[in-house]
Amino acid sequence: MTTRAVVIGVGHYLPERVVPNSEFEQTLDTTDEWIRSRSGIERRHFAAEGETTSMLGAHAATAALKSAGLAPDDIDAIVVATSTPDLTFPSVATMIQEKIGMTRGFGFDVQAVCAGFIYALTNANALVVSGQAKRVMVIGAETFSRIMDWTDRATCVLFGDGAGALILEAQAGSGTTQDRGVLSSDLNSDGRYRDMLYVDGGVSSTGTSGKLRMQGNPLFRQAVEKLASTATAALSKVDLDDSAVDWIVPHQANIRIIQGTAKKLGVPMERVIVTVQDHGNTSAASIPLAMSVGVAQGKIKKGDLLVAEAIGGGLAWGAVALRW
Ligand code: UT7
Repeated sequence: MTTRAVVIGVGHYLPERVVPNSEFEQTLDTTDEWIRSRSGIERRHFAAEGETTSMLGAHAATAALKSAGLAPDDIDAIVVATSTPDLTFPSVATMIQEKIGMTRGFGFDVQAVCAGFIYALTNANALVVSGQAKRVMVIGAETFSRIMDWTDRATCVLFGDGAGALILEAQAGSGTTQDRGVLSSDLNSDGRYRDMLYVDGGVSSTGTSGKLRMQGNPLFRQAVEKLASTATAALSKVDLDDSAVDWIVPHQANIRIIQGTAKKLGVPMERVIVTVQDHGNTSAASIPLAMSVGVAQGKIKKGDLLVAEAIGGGLAWGAVALRW
C-alpha cells in the first residue's frame, strides 16, 4: 500500500477590480496591442486598497473547503506559497488559519516566487506521505500589484493579484501511476541568475519592501528551456512521458512561453489550461487559479494526468505530475 496525497477540493478568488490593458495606455507609452501580442494578457485583477494577500488566500481557502465539503478544523496544515505577504511576519498561513476559523493544526509559508506553488505542493505532499498530516491545504496567494514600479512599462503591465487553493488528503494507492494524487515532482534553483528577476528592497537590506525588476527577454529564453526539461524530468521519474499527459497546467507568465513549452513537450494547445489572458501573471497563485478555472470549465476531470510547471525569481523552477 502506498499513501497518496489526493486532491479533494479546489477553489480560487480574484479581487473585484478588473484592469484592462487600455488603462495603461493613459499613463504609459504602451498599447493594448503590444501587451496582447507580446504576453497574451488582456486584463488582470488588482486588489482593493486594504485588501491583503491573506484576505485573498482566505477566500480561496473557503471556496476549496466548500468544494470538498469540509470544515476548517478538518484540515491539519496550511502551506501558503507567496512572495507578497501582508507583513514580514507572522506567516500568511497563520493569518489565513485565523480568518477561516481553523483552531488546530499548523501553517507556514514557502517562498519560491513564481515557482512557489510547485514548491508548496511538493512540501505538502511530503507532509501527507510521511504521515505528518492527513489533510493539507495548499494555497498560492499574491498581491504583486503592491511591488510594481508603475513607471516601468516592461513589468507593470504583466502582473496581477489573486489566490487559488487545493486540499490534499491521504488516501491508499496501489503504487502505480494509475493512482490519483501527486505522483512525482522535480525542483530546481540556481542563484547565479538572481539579477534576472528580483525585488530591489527587503528587511535586512533596504528596510523597504522594494519594487520588482526583471530582464524579460533573457528570462523568456531560460523559461521555455527549463520548463520543458523540468516537466519531462517529473514525468520520467515515474516512467511516464509527454504522451500520457491530459493537461499541462503551466505558470501563466506569457502565452508565448506557454506555447513554446507545450511545443517542446509535443502537447497540443487544446490540452493546455490557459488563463493568462484574464489573470496576467499572478506568480505563485497562477497554477492553483488555472487548476480551479480548468475544473470549473469542465476541462480537468477526476483521473486526468496533469503536469504543472513554473519558473520565477531565483531562478527557481520545477514541475509536479499528479493524477486529479
Ligand atoms: O513569472 C516569472 C517568469 N516571468 C517570465 O517568464 C517573463 C518572461 N519574459 C516575457 O514574458 C517577455 O520577455 C516580455 C513580455 C517581458 C517582453 O517581451 P519580449 O518579446 O521579450 O520584448 P523585449 O523585452 O525584447 O522588448 C521589445 C521592445 C523593447 O523596445 P526596443 O528596445 O526594441 O526599442 C521594449 O522597450 O518592447 C519595448 N517594451 C514595450 N513597448 C510597449 C517593453 N515593454 C513595453 C510595453 N509597451 N509595455
